[in-house]
Order: sequence, then structure tokens, then C-alpha cells
Amino acid sequence: MTSTLPQTPLAKRIQSFYDESSGLWEQVWGEHMHHGYYGTEGRDRPQSPQQAQRILIEQLLSWSGVQSPGNVLDVGCGIGGSTLYLSAKYGASATGITLSPVQAKRAEARAEVNGFGEKVTFQVADALAMPFADESFDFVWSLESGEHMPDKAKFLQECCRVLKPGGTLLVATWCHRDLAEKGPLSARERKHLEDLYRLYHLPHVISLAEYGAIAQTLPLQKMQTADWSKAVAPFWDDVVRSALNPKVLWGIATAGWQTFEGALAIPLMQEGYRTGLIRYGLLAGTKA
Ligand SMILES: C[S@@+](CC[C@H](N)C(=O)[O-])C[C@H]1O[C@@H](n2cnc3c(N)ncnc32)[C@H](O)[C@@H]1O
Repeated sequence: MTSTLPQTPLAKRIQSFYDESSGLWEQVWGEHMHHGYYGTEGRDRPQSPQQAQRILIEQLLSWSGVQSPGNVLDVGCGIGGSTLYLSAKYGASATGITLSPVQAKRAEARAEVNGFGEKVTFQVADALAMPFADESFDFVWSLESGEHMPDKAKFLQECCRVLKPGGTLLVATWCHRDLAEKGPLSARERKHLEDLYRLYHLPHVISLAEYGAIAQTLPLQKMQTADWSKAVAPFWDDVVRSALNPKVLWGIATAGWQTFEGALAIPLMQEGYRTGLIRYGLLAGTKA
């Protein structure tokens, strides 16, 4: 495992949040640290949150149009849930990067136990300054890490830089509502977002339209965006249901302050989806 950890206060907070909380998350919800998919209108009821998460991955792959990539970069890889999934599905070599050394170590251990050998590697590295040469990967996948990036344009530029010509980019990320819908964010909406930013260590989020505008400045063809908020919002009800187990409540109370604060943000996500302030945005394209 190599490490090129950024030292900004935000990066340190993100690192310590995931260092502290990833063990509990894995114990309760498994290796995928992202929403699940509950049908286009959010009415399907998969057997478990974990199944909903695997369905989300499959739906994203199908939506992105990616074709059997030979090598994959997972930007903001958590404990390697998607990294291993994609490597196994495509027989691809895969690299995952995260700010959390604890996550990178755990991802490596999971890869080893599951026999991935040298096909899969993990690094502690910053998505805004990736330690990879231009045009290195066939598929750049970022599932719910964009919301942590302080510079969204730099984030997409870096993802695009390391993509080979003809390669596919897929980003799924938390957004706020499109400002063209109901005008500028109200004071109440801004306060709601500020609370979420503080509890989840997010610098800020932007609208999907803004991601689309950034992508227009990049060498991307067949660029598409989609809002899957309805399909993923029920995930938070599943999170609340699992968290009501006394063992989980005890885990949250004892894992550390940042984990406890993260749990306080759950109702803010539920309310954010209900009011339409929080959106789940997708962006995909092919490098020209
Ligand atoms: C919510 S987790 C998602 C993990 C994984 N994609 C999954 O779906 O299981 C967010 C991840 O983004 C990573 N991350 C946040 N900011 C990052 C940055 N600047 N560079 C690299 N990784 C970052 C965190 O370390 C964490 O692994």
C-alpha cells in the first residue's frame, strides 16, 4: 500500500471519519458504503439493503454503457466493495484510492482473503492529485465520493485525465436541487446543507446541472446525466431500521464522536430527499 496523503484540515477530517467509522459500517451494512437501488420510483423492496446496493452497482454499469474494461480505477473506494465487484465481474485489474489508511488496509485484506492476488491494489491518495499517468484506465468509477471533493472541477478533470481515449467515466454523487427549479437556495435549505456538510465532512455539494456544465468543458463524448433520487432515497429507511438494533446503537455510541455525529445526519438525508433538496446525481461519458 502506498500513501500520498493530503494534509488539508478537510482531508484530515475525512480521513479520521472513515478511519473511525468504517469498521462499524462493515459490521452492520457490509462492504458497500453507498446507497441501494429500489426501482425507478423507489417502490421495489429488495431482500436486504446489501442486495439493493448490488442492484445499484449493476444499474449504474448498465446505464453508463461501459463495455468490459480491462482495468478500472475506483476513486474514493471505501473498503473496496466496488473495486472487487468490478474486478470480479470483468476479470479486470483494478485500483482503489481512498483518503483513509484504515480503509485501504481493510480493502487489501479483503482482496487477499478473496484471492484477487495482484489484480487489485489500493492506495491512500488524493483524487484531486492522483498519482497516475495520463490515459491509464479504461474505466474510472466514482461512487459517492464526489460530495467530499472541495474542487468539483478539479475532481472531474483528474478523472478525465487518467482515462484512456475511448474509456468510460461514471460518477454517482450527492447533489443539491437544481437552482433553475425553484430559484436560489433558501436560508432554511442552506442551513440544512451546512448541517450535513459539518456532520459528514463535506466541503459543499453542487447541483447535477453544475456537474454537467463542468463536464462540457472536458474532452468527454456521449456525456449524459440522470437524477436517481427517487430510486435511492428508501435506502435511508433501511439504514434507520438496522440502526435501531441495540447492538448497532451501542456500536454507534462507542465507535467515536465522528461516527456518532454521522448517525445524527441520517434524518437530514431522509428529510433532504423528502423535500427535494438532496439529489442523487449521475454523470457518465466517454473520453474523446
Ligand atoms: C461514502 S465513501 C464511498 C466508498 C465507496 N465508493 C463505496 O461506495 O463503497 C466515500 C469515500 O471517498 C473517499 N474520499 C473522499 N475524499 C477523497 C479524496 N479527496 N481522494 C480520495 N478519496 C476520497 C473516502 O476516503 C471514502 O473512501
